[in-house]
Amino acid sequence: MDRITHWENVYQTKSSTEVSWYEPDPKQSLDLILEAAGEKRGRVIDVGGGQSFLVDRLLDSGFKQVAVLDISSAAIEATRTRLGERASRVKWMVADIAQAESLGEFDIWHDRAVFHFITDPDDRKHYMELLKRSLPIGGHFIVGTFAKGGPEKCSGLTICQYDAATMQAELGSSFEPIECSEYLHTTPTGKPQQFFFGTYKRID
Ligand SMILES: C[S@@+](CC[C@H](N)C(=O)[O-])C[C@H]1O[C@@H](n2cnc3c(N)ncnc32)[C@H](O)[C@@H]1O
Repeated sequence: MDRITHWENVYQTKSSTEVSWYEPDPKQSLDLILEAAGEKRGRVIDVGGGQSFLVDRLLDSGFKQVAVLDISSAAIEATRTRLGERASRVKWMVADIAQAESLGEFDIWHDRAVFHFITDPDDRKHYMELLKRSLPIGGHFIVGTFAKGGPEKCSGLTICQYDAATMQAELGSSFEPIECSEYLHTTPTGKPQQFFFGTYKRID
């Protein structure tokens, strides 16, 4: 099954609260985004946002430009519908992040549980080049993936696990680490999942 079909199928057959990555309050992501943003509430993109409530919180926090990208049009449509009138304040994009050519410029790029699905090195290279094209110097990359020793699969798909060293190896010298930590997510069925979270600043 190709990537698009896989994710469309997930969002067409499962409710938003039963998927393993569901969290009623995306506090970890929002805290890291607000820390990186400081006083400035500029342009932020949630890559692979799915049906996350992060977009709601970003609008509440006063970001001037909020974009949500996902490979699944069903996920984007459901989130858009949930937001009602507020949906018009968001830029919605349906795209495969391992293939998209241009997304515009952002001050903050957030990715929770998407990068770890990119197991092909050429696709990861594409992701990193797109990240650099989209994030000017001074911009922040905030990423959450399964940690070393955490789950080996998600949604039936193989993933790559990361820690501070392996994520830095993907990012190279253009990104400086600001904060790296591990975080325990509990799935709706009560299973603990160890995540790695990193905030990086683009420095060249
Ligand atoms: C595990 S879910 C996480 C969703 C959301 N970030 C959250 O924390 O609730 C992974 C999301 O990434 C999307 N996705 C997977 N591969 C993608 C790709 N190559 N390009 C864009 N989105 C992708 C899926 O449709 C899904 O919404």
